[in-house]
Amino acid sequence: TVRDISFKVKEILITEEQIKQKVEELGQKISEDYKDSDDFLMVCILKGGVIFMADLLRRITIPVKIEFMAVSSYGNSTSSSGIVRILKDLDTSIEGKDVLLVEDIVDTGLTLRYITEYLRGRKPRSLKICTMLDKPSRRKVDVEIHYKGFEIPDKFVIGYGLDYAGLYRNLPYIGVLE
Ligand code: PRP
Ligand code: MN
Ligand code: MG
Repeated sequence: TVRDISFKVKEILITEEQIKQKVEELGQKISEDYKDSDDFLMVCILKGGVIFMADLLRRITIPVKIEFMAVSSYGNSTSSSGIVRILKDLDTSIEGKDVLLVEDIVDTGLTLRYITEYLRGRKPRSLKICTMLDKPSRRKVDVEIHYKGFEIPDKFVIGYGLDYAGLYRNLPYIGVLE
Protein backbone atom coordinates (compact mmCIF):
# COMPACT_ATOMS: atom_id res chain seq x y z
CA THR A 1 0.00 0.00 0.00
CA VAL A 2 1.05 3.65 -0.22
CA ARG A 3 1.22 3.69 3.59
CA ASP A 4 4.06 1.19 3.35
CA ILE A 5 7.22 3.30 3.26
CA SER A 6 9.16 0.78 1.16
CA PHE A 7 6.95 2.05 -1.67
CA LYS A 8 9.31 5.04 -1.85
CA VAL A 9 12.45 2.96 -2.34
CA LYS A 10 13.77 2.84 -5.89
CA GLU A 11 16.69 0.58 -5.16
CA ILE A 12 18.15 -1.14 -2.12
CA LEU A 13 21.75 -0.01 -1.83
CA ILE A 14 22.74 -1.89 1.32
CA THR A 15 20.71 -4.80 2.63
CA GLU A 16 19.83 -5.59 6.23
CA GLU A 17 22.18 -8.56 6.11
CA GLN A 18 25.10 -6.46 4.84
CA ILE A 19 24.47 -3.91 7.58
CA LYS A 20 24.33 -6.60 10.24
CA GLN A 21 27.66 -8.06 9.15
CA LYS A 22 29.35 -4.69 8.99
CA VAL A 23 28.09 -3.63 12.41
CA GLU A 24 29.40 -6.87 13.88
CA GLU A 25 32.79 -6.28 12.26
CA LEU A 26 32.98 -2.67 13.46
CA GLY A 27 31.93 -3.65 16.97
CA GLN A 28 34.73 -6.18 17.19
CA LYS A 29 37.32 -3.78 15.86
CA ILE A 30 36.28 -0.94 18.15
CA SER A 31 36.16 -3.24 21.19
CA GLU A 32 39.69 -4.37 20.43
CA ASP A 33 41.00 -0.84 19.84
CA TYR A 34 39.52 0.58 23.05
CA LYS A 35 40.05 -2.41 25.31
CA ASP A 36 42.67 -0.61 27.42
CA SER A 37 40.64 2.57 27.86
CA ASP A 38 39.16 3.09 31.29
CA ASP A 39 36.89 5.88 30.11
CA PHE A 40 35.35 4.92 26.81
CA LEU A 41 32.38 7.05 25.73
CA MET A 42 30.27 6.65 22.62
CA VAL A 43 28.43 9.79 21.54
CA CYS A 44 25.50 9.44 19.16
CA ILE A 45 24.71 12.38 16.91
CA LEU A 46 20.93 12.65 16.78
CA LYS A 47 18.75 12.04 15.08
CA GLY A 48 20.34 10.15 12.19
CA GLY A 49 22.84 8.24 14.31
CA VAL A 50 20.27 6.60 16.54
CA ILE A 51 19.75 3.27 14.74
CA PHE A 52 23.43 2.65 14.06
CA MET A 53 24.28 3.61 17.64
CA ALA A 54 21.79 1.16 19.10
CA ASP A 55 23.00 -1.69 16.90
CA LEU A 56 26.71 -0.95 17.25
CA LEU A 57 26.50 -0.54 21.00
CA ARG A 58 25.25 -4.11 21.35
CA ARG A 59 28.32 -5.37 19.49
CA ILE A 60 30.71 -3.63 21.88
CA THR A 61 32.13 -6.10 24.36
CA ILE A 62 34.08 -3.75 26.66
CA PRO A 63 32.86 -1.24 29.29
CA VAL A 64 31.33 1.80 27.60
CA LYS A 65 29.17 4.77 28.50
CA ILE A 66 26.92 6.66 26.13
CA GLU A 67 25.87 10.24 25.49
CA PHE A 68 23.72 11.99 22.92
CA MET A 69 24.11 15.24 21.05
CA ALA A 70 21.56 16.77 18.75
CA VAL A 71 22.54 19.27 16.11
CA SER A 72 20.79 20.94 13.25
CA SER A 73 22.67 21.82 10.17
CA TYR A 74 21.61 24.86 8.23
CA GLY A 75 18.13 24.98 6.58
CA ASN A 76 17.97 22.65 3.59
CA SER A 77 20.48 19.92 3.08
CA THR A 78 21.73 20.74 -0.39
CA SER A 79 23.15 24.20 0.33
CA SER A 80 25.17 24.14 3.49
CA SER A 81 26.71 27.16 5.13
CA GLY A 82 28.56 25.04 7.67
CA ILE A 83 26.70 26.70 10.50
CA VAL A 84 25.58 24.04 12.90
CA ARG A 85 23.34 24.70 15.86
CA ILE A 86 23.59 22.59 18.98
CA LEU A 87 20.08 21.58 20.00
CA LYS A 88 21.14 19.22 22.75
CA ASP A 89 24.57 19.23 24.28
CA LEU A 90 26.35 16.49 26.21
CA ASP A 91 25.17 15.94 29.78
CA THR A 92 28.60 15.22 31.23
CA SER A 93 32.20 16.33 30.89
CA ILE A 94 34.33 14.53 28.32
CA GLU A 95 37.63 15.71 29.73
CA GLY A 96 40.16 12.89 29.73
CA LYS A 97 37.75 10.46 28.05
CA ASP A 98 38.14 8.42 24.90
CA VAL A 99 35.28 9.72 22.82
CA LEU A 100 33.89 8.00 19.74
CA LEU A 101 31.33 9.96 17.71
CA VAL A 102 28.70 7.82 16.01
CA GLU A 103 27.07 9.16 12.84
CA ASP A 104 24.88 7.73 10.11
CA ILE A 105 26.57 9.57 7.26
CA VAL A 106 29.38 11.97 6.42
CA ASP A 107 28.35 14.03 3.42
CA THR A 108 29.90 17.50 3.07
CA GLY A 109 31.67 16.92 6.39
CA LEU A 110 30.49 20.26 7.77
CA THR A 111 28.48 18.79 10.63
CA LEU A 112 31.34 16.67 11.92
CA ARG A 113 33.93 19.34 11.43
CA TYR A 114 31.89 21.69 13.58
CA ILE A 115 31.22 19.09 16.26
CA THR A 116 34.81 17.89 16.45
CA GLU A 117 36.18 21.41 16.73
CA TYR A 118 33.63 22.16 19.42
CA LEU A 119 34.38 19.00 21.38
CA ARG A 120 38.15 19.26 21.09
CA GLY A 121 37.91 22.37 23.23
CA ARG A 122 36.64 20.18 26.04
CA LYS A 123 39.86 18.22 26.21
CA PRO A 124 38.88 14.61 25.57
CA ARG A 125 41.80 12.19 25.78
CA SER A 126 41.00 11.11 22.24
CA LEU A 127 38.28 11.92 19.73
CA LYS A 128 37.43 9.61 16.85
CA ILE A 129 34.67 9.22 14.32
CA CYS A 130 32.62 6.20 13.36
CA THR A 131 30.13 6.50 10.52
CA MET A 132 27.93 3.95 8.81
CA LEU A 133 28.05 5.73 5.46
CA ASP A 134 30.56 7.94 3.72
CA LYS A 135 29.73 9.92 0.60
CA PRO A 136 33.19 11.23 -0.33
CA SER A 137 32.10 12.79 -3.63
CA ARG A 138 30.19 15.48 -1.70
CA ARG A 139 32.96 16.42 0.72
CA LYS A 140 33.57 20.14 1.29
CA VAL A 141 35.89 19.92 4.25
CA ASP A 142 38.31 17.23 5.26
CA VAL A 143 37.18 14.98 8.07
CA GLU A 144 39.24 12.09 9.30
CA ILE A 145 37.03 9.01 9.56
CA HIS A 146 38.43 6.27 11.78
CA TYR A 147 35.69 3.65 11.39
CA LYS A 148 33.46 3.42 8.36
CA GLY A 149 30.73 1.06 7.22
CA PHE A 150 30.31 1.74 3.51
CA GLU A 151 31.30 4.28 0.90
CA ILE A 152 28.33 5.19 -1.23
CA PRO A 153 27.79 7.09 -4.50
CA ASP A 154 26.11 10.48 -4.66
CA LYS A 155 22.51 9.28 -4.40
CA PHE A 156 19.82 10.41 -1.98
CA VAL A 157 19.71 7.62 0.54
CA ILE A 158 17.13 6.85 3.20
CA GLY A 159 16.68 4.30 5.94
CA TYR A 160 18.68 2.98 8.88
CA GLY A 161 18.40 6.40 10.53
CA LEU A 162 18.64 8.50 7.39
CA ASP A 163 15.63 10.63 6.61
CA TYR A 164 13.94 12.53 3.87
CA ALA A 165 11.91 15.37 5.41
CA GLY A 166 11.96 13.54 8.72
CA LEU A 167 10.59 10.26 7.35
CA TYR A 168 11.95 6.82 6.37
CA ARG A 169 14.45 6.51 9.23
CA ASN A 170 12.75 3.27 10.21
CA LEU A 171 13.58 1.33 7.04
CA PRO A 172 15.82 -1.56 8.16
CA TYR A 173 18.06 -1.23 5.07
CA ILE A 174 19.60 1.66 3.14
CA GLY A 175 17.72 2.56 0.01
CA VAL A 176 17.64 5.17 -2.71
CA LEU A 177 14.64 7.49 -2.63
CA GLU A 178 12.26 7.15 -5.58
C1 PRP B 1 22.52 14.53 8.44
C2 PRP B 1 23.32 13.31 8.83
C3 PRP B 1 24.61 13.90 9.33
C4 PRP B 1 24.79 15.14 8.48
C5 PRP B 1 25.77 14.85 7.38
O1 PRP B 1 21.93 15.07 9.58
O2 PRP B 1 22.65 12.60 9.86
O3 PRP B 1 24.50 14.29 10.69
O4 PRP B 1 23.50 15.42 7.89
O5 PRP B 1 25.84 15.94 6.49
P1 PRP B 1 27.13 16.84 6.32
O6 PRP B 1 28.33 15.95 6.27
O7 PRP B 1 26.89 17.50 4.98
O8 PRP B 1 27.18 17.84 7.41
P2 PRP B 1 20.76 16.14 9.52
O9 PRP B 1 21.34 17.51 9.59
O10 PRP B 1 19.90 15.84 8.33
O11 PRP B 1 19.96 15.91 10.86
P3 PRP B 1 19.29 14.53 11.33
O12 PRP B 1 20.41 13.61 11.72
O13 PRP B 1 18.47 14.91 12.51
O14 PRP B 1 18.49 14.00 10.18
MN1 MN C 1 22.47 13.85 11.48
MG1 MG D 1 18.51 14.54 8.20
